[in-house]
This record gives sequence, C-alpha cells and structure tokens, in this order.
Amino acid sequence: MSLRQFISTRGLLKTLSALKNSIVYTWDEAARILGLDEDLYSHPLHRELERPVRVILIGAGHRGGIYADYATKSPREMRVVGVAEPNAARRKRIAAAHGIPPERCFTDWKAVFEAAPGQDGVAGAWADAVIIATPDRLHTAPCLRALAQGYDVLLEKPVAPTEAECRQILAAAQASGRIVGVCHVLRYTPYFRELKALIDGGMVGEVVSVQHLEPIEHVHMSHSYVRGNWRKSEDATPIILAKSCHDTDIIRWLVGAPAEEVHCFGNLKWFKEANAPAGSTARCTDGCQVERECPYSALQIYYRDRKRLYVFDLPEDQGLWGPLIMQGLNTTDYGRCVYRMDNDQPDHLTANILFANGVTAGFSMEAFVSYEGRRTRIMGSMGDIVGNMESFTLTSFKDGKRRSWSMKTDAHGGGDHRLVKDWVQAVGQKNPALLSSPIEVSVESHLIAYAAETSRVNRSIERVQL
Ligand SMILES: NC(=O)c1ccc[n+]([C@@H]2O[C@H](COP(=O)([O-])OP(=O)(O)OC[C@H]3O[C@@H](n4cnc5c(N)ncnc54)[C@H](O)[C@@H]3O)[C@@H](O)[C@H]2O)c1
Repeated sequence: MSLRQFISTRGLLKTLSALKNSIVYTWDEAARILGLDEDLYSHPLHRELERPVRVILIGAGHRGGIYADYATKSPREMRVVGVAEPNAARRKRIAAAHGIPPERCFTDWKAVFEAAPGQDGVAGAWADAVIIATPDRLHTAPCLRALAQGYDVLLEKPVAPTEAECRQILAAAQASGRIVGVCHVLRYTPYFRELKALIDGGMVGEVVSVQHLEPIEHVHMSHSYVRGNWRKSEDATPIILAKSCHDTDIIRWLVGAPAEEVHCFGNLKWFKEANAPAGSTARCTDGCQVERECPYSALQIYYRDRKRLYVFDLPEDQGLWGPLIMQGLNTTDYGRCVYRMDNDQPDHLTANILFANGVTAGFSMEAFVSYEGRRTRIMGSMGDIVGNMESFTLTSFKDGKRRSWSMKTDAHGGGDHRLVKDWVQAVGQKNPALLSSPIEVSVESHLIAYAAETSRVNRSIERVQL
C-alpha cells in the first residue's frame, strides 16, 4: 500500500491513536508499525519509462549540477545530452560526467535552441526537455524560447523577477501545452509531504492559522545575500522571492486556499558600513584586526573551515585548494568585509497573509539565527502541530495525546531528487499530474511574494491578484 492510499483512508486516524503517547518514531519505524511500503514516498503514478528522458542542462552551477546528478543515479529515467554554461570548468565537468560530445556543449543558452531548433511545438531531435538553472534574471528568456520550440521545462525558482514575466511564462506554458515544473523542492520532501497529508487527513481538524519561520542562519545569509550573487535585489530578485517563494508556496499549500491580502515589514539592519567594527578592512585578507573574532571572517569560513567552497570551482585534488581559496578571497566578493558590500537585501522580514478560507499565516525570514531548517506551527480546531523539518509533534485536543515523527534527510530535506524524479516521470509519461509544483500552481506563491515586496517597500496592505 502506498502512503497516499494509506492516508486517504480514515484508518490512519485509528491506527495512529493506538500508538503510545509522546514517542518519537523514525520514518522507518513508523512505516513498519503502520505496515507501509518500504518507499514511503513513491508516487502511485510512477512507471518504468520506455526510454530515458533526454535533457539539456542550461546553467551548470550549484543547482544545475544537483539536478544533473539524477541522471547518474537513474540512467534509465534521465540522460543529460547537452549543456549550456559559460564557465568552462563547470561545462567540462558536466560534459565529462554525462559523456556529452563537444558539439552539444555551449557557452550560452541561446546556442541550445539554434543547435536543436525544434519546430511547431516539437522539440529538437536530440532532446525532450531542458532544465533551466541560470541566475534569477535569466529564467524568462530561455523558458519562453524552450516552450516555443516544443521542450518541456524544469525551471528554477524564482520563476521570474517580475509579476509580468511570471504571468508571461504561465501564459506561454498554457498555450504550448508543455510541462513546466518549478523547483519548489520543499513540496517533495518527506517532511512537508507528511505534514500536508496529516492536515488533509483532518488530523488537526480545520486549520485556523499558521506560523512559519525561515531561519536562514547567519553565515548562510552572509554567503548568499551579503557577499554572494543574491545580495542586490536589482541583480537577482528581492529576497522574499529569491529565498522565500519556497515558504509562500508551502504556506499556501498547507492552508489549501488562495491568498487574499498580504502585509510585510522588513529591512537591512545589520550588514552595512555603519556597523563595521573598528580595525576592519575592505577584505578579510587585508590585515583586518578583528578577523579572528568576526563570525563572518572569510578566512575562517572558506579557508580554515573549508565551507561553501563550490563557488570557487576547485579541482578534485584537495592538495591544490589552499592557494586557490586564498586567491579567491583576494579577488572575488567572497573575501570582502560583510559590512562594506553593496548589498541591499533585508536581513529580517515578517509577513502576514490572509487566505480566502479565513486562515491567517505569520511568516518570518531571519538572518540572525545559529540554525537552519524551517520551523512550522499549525494551529487547528482539533489539534496542533509543531515541527522543525527534522521532526514534528502532533497534539490532539480530543485526547491530549502527543505523537512525534522524526527523520534525517539529505540537503533540502531530501526534496531535490524527488522533484527531478516526479518531473522526469511527468515528461516521460506526458502527464503533468505527477508534479506537485507545476507552473500553474507555483505562480500563486510568487504573486504572494510580489505583493509582499510591494507592501514592504510602500508600507501598504496589498491584495493578491490571482
Ligand atoms: N530550488 C532551490 O531550492 C534553489 C536553491 C538555490 C538557488 N536556486 C536558484 O537556482 C538558480 C541557480 O542558482 P545556483 O545556486 O545554481 O547559481 P550558480 O551561480 O551556481 O549557477 C548558475 C549558473 O548559470 C550560468 N549561466 C550564467 N549565464 C548563463 C548563460 N547565458 N547561459 C547558460 N548558463 C549561464 C552561470 O555561469 C552559473 O554556472 C537561481 O535562480 C537560484 O535562485 C534555487
């Protein structure tokens, strides 16, 4: 029996109430007790595909590499047959890993569509679909071109920097009849799937309100949104889209109704020059006198701790890394002082959302926390749930019983490859119903985020126009 079938029966309520109070189960234990299949999250529509889906990877950076890895794991389902990436080291790495011949390696996304033109809604002869994992401002043009030429698409979030572009992609997807999956990977995590299933199964009665916290973690914030490519909203997208469209999506999904109004406050409070400590310098490597005590020391994060090194494109031989990291700290933004950047993204924000079914949600995005992992509280008429992405506890108001589930998963809560699997299956079977985050659904989360950003900037309450 699959989990979906299982949860669709009210038997779940009965079985769970037989479990003891306040016990923490791992997923494996829970599966054994409940008599579920070994793979809790296999989709009932998954099938053996007749042939692997042929994919061209556009943007072979951090995310693109993760998605392409799925082909290595599941070669019967997906093959990477082309790559477009201006960075030579990244392009070559993908080409070598997937055996892509030089004539199918490109330095820019446009060349993909010239090399494999496709016509009248039929994709180019050597590929079925494209994965678009380029920077935020480079999603719309390749996506529209891919749809026009008959490709199905896996599109990184945020869909587009503006509402107009987002609606344009939606319209093009609907007109073409192609599949556009959006990389809202949290929907594919065991944790959020289970939370959604319990809510839909009536385990907390009717949902009344939601509190959702996204703790970015202070070093992650400094890496991506102070030093990194997402530090300026004009160059990337406002942080409520860049980071938190996942959260507006998850909240809307759990609530199960469209958003009507949103109100948002937030600003950049700490990462600015006025807060630069005495003795600090433009780069951490310039003889900064407070480097050893600064939590954002680039020397500590990248050189001594060897964290988040993917931005330096290091060779496999770790013996060569030391001087190359130092070179990166001396020449790239990752060596600059966090208080002397040109960043403008808020380092804290809070949004309130009112949904059409009367549910209210409070959302906070916080940089200044020592931990990661979304925290979610669901308040229902018959019970509540408190969770932190590793475990959650459901308390029933009827009998006071508390039941907890716990799990340890890989990065992004285990959602990355589950998303690719569902998308590949959707493309292979030409059935968008396999996707939890098609463009038609994902647009809504973005409309909430655009409205929240307008509210933050204008200090207004905004209506979400669907
Ligand atoms: N789904 C998620 O959870 C998640 C997480 C992080 C980032 N993202 C999003 O994924 C996207 C990629 O982020 P990333 O972290 O992989 O960034 P990245 O910088 O590591 O990768 C982007 C790649 O696109 C390449 N590129 C730039 N111009 C190009 C062009 N003209 N043609 C082809 N390729 C080009 C860059 O060289 C780079 O290698 C962004 O939109 C980001 O916001 C999503």
